[in-house]
Amino acid sequence: MDPFCYKDGRLFAESVPLSTIAESVGTPCYVYSRAMIEQQWRAFDNAFAGRDHMVCYAVKANSNLGILNVLARLGSGFDIVSVGELERVLRAGGDPAKVVFSGVGKADAELRRALQVGIHCFNVESEAELLRLNALAGEARRHARVALRVNPDVDANTHPYIATGLRRNKFGVPIDTAAALYAHAKTLPHLEMSGVACHIGSQLLELDPFVDALKRVVALVENLRHQGQRLQHIDLGGGLGIRYRDEQPPSPQDLVRALIEHVDKVPGCRDMRIMIEPGRALVGEAGVLLTRVLYLKHGQERNFAIVDAAINDLLRPALYDAWHEIVPVTPHGKHETRVYDVVGPVCESADFLGRERKLALTAGELLAVRSAGAYGSAMSSRYNTRALPPEVIVDKDRIHIVRRRETIDEMLETESVLPD
Ligand code: LLP
Repeated sequence: MDPFCYKDGRLFAESVPLSTIAESVGTPCYVYSRAMIEQQWRAFDNAFAGRDHMVCYAVKANSNLGILNVLARLGSGFDIVSVGELERVLRAGGDPAKVVFSGVGKADAELRRALQVGIHCFNVESEAELLRLNALAGEARRHARVALRVNPDVDANTHPYIATGLRRNKFGVPIDTAAALYAHAKTLPHLEMSGVACHIGSQLLELDPFVDALKRVVALVENLRHQGQRLQHIDLGGGLGIRYRDEQPPSPQDLVRALIEHVDKVPGCRDMRIMIEPGRALVGEAGVLLTRVLYLKHGQERNFAIVDAAINDLLRPALYDAWHEIVPVTPHGKHETRVYDVVGPVCESADFLGRERKLALTAGELLAVRSAGAYGSAMSSRYNTRALPPEVIVDKDRIHIVRRRETIDEMLETESVLPD
């Protein structure tokens, strides 16, 4: 299902023309399809069929309260990496008992708050964090459920900035030292070692790296079982890729089937709960960034389409050289097709949304930057004192503004000049 389709020469989000949204909210602006987010979440959830499982949406992919609320209503769990994300989940109606807390650098205040609200599990990434959590849990008179995040040393075949499962990466504890750490953790009175976690990278386009990582994780679980330590769950993280251009990622069903098959091969693992933390695959293709062409600049070497969205709204092209499809909202064919660099108003040569795109453009028209629902608004900033982009969720023929455009006063609210 693609919620962004042309009807009568206009690009729609579900049943609403994107031009209508641009008129009411202005540009730049993110637009998401509720139906597609729900469809993707259900695809993961249903693929587990009757098996014990938990789908924890990786909040970092898109942490807008409206998006979290859509997922909370489906009964989703959440994977968080900060106390800010935890508060978002709570305000969006998420259940703290379905929250897992990942990240290499959890601060005391973050651990305390998570203990207080009773999250499902802490995915601990080092021995030092394990000791800290044990101490804070003791102070709070609570028990913390823990999974060690192991680093399986598997190559995820993805952009180096978003690969996390290699020994050289900062993430997790080396899988070959994990058994010793589990044995140590068992002696810590305020922790309950309930699982093992692993996340090898993002935008993975093959199943093999997932399966390789899983095989190593399952071998660890077996090893621990022989040493008398039984775990209840395996958390395989997120990472399933999406289509930006012509990629053909495995489907959520393919991934879940492969995971179940390999876990169930091992008799000691069959009754374990399987958890996953998808982010991009739930929201990525469900969102577009809507932008308007401000000026066309036809140069000797290059043609530039200067649009009102910029690097601060969508960082991925600059940071990862990521490719996002850019399409006209109302194709008109009035002007000749040229090759354009689609760039924003920010003072950086890295400020581009797409380079060398064949488009027939007129100043003032609208463009949609596709597959922008994940790591788009979530990574936006106010660089050049540009307001954060508003966000809209389309639900059939209705639109919900889930983040309005901020005013200049709001942007400057927390700052001050020096006293006299
Ligand atoms: N779990 C953990 C522990 C993670 O670190 C991540 C993503 C996920 C789950 C979700 O992964 P996903 O299903 O979304 O691939 N900013 C980058 C992506 C960074 C991903 C970081 N970790 C981008 O725009 O491509």
